[in-house]
Amino acid sequence: MDYLKNDAGAEGYPAEKLYALADAARKNAYVPFSGFSVGAALLTAGGKVYTGVNVENSSYGATICAERTAFVKAISEGERAFTAIAVSAGDVQESLPCGICRQFMYEFAPDIKVITGTSADALAVRTLGELLPLGFKLEK
Ligand code: THU
Repeated sequence: MDYLKNDAGAEGYPAEKLYALADAARKNAYVPFSGFSVGAALLTAGGKVYTGVNVENSSYGATICAERTAFVKAISEGERAFTAIAVSAGDVQESLPCGICRQFMYEFAPDIKVITGTSADALAVRTLGELLPLGFKLEK
């Protein structure tokens, strides 16, 4: 895992920029229960960015995380190739993807870079393989 300044999130796209988009997306999080706003910004292989936020529910288990929201938006628009995802919960804490999100991402992007931190100045860049070694995928 590297803490890098000015690291390229993917093919010349700065990690700081992707993180800033994730952080800006947080304003639309629906978090009446936890008050914990998370934003995600997902970079496609084609250079497009899809953002997502956590959307909570009165039936707590129906909550969807920011990362899966971003993926579902992109997948439903026909995207299938992804290079990086940034996740921000503001400066409260570094917010790493939960186990469900790791598995969800593994389906589409087992090698994706995951960018996290509490400030764009000091970002952690890990691969999904580091976060979820030996992930599960059905063989066709
Ligand atoms: N959450 C995310 O959006 N992403 C994560 O990876 C961790 C957790 C959300 C779910 C819930 O709305 C809130 O954070 C507190 O768990």
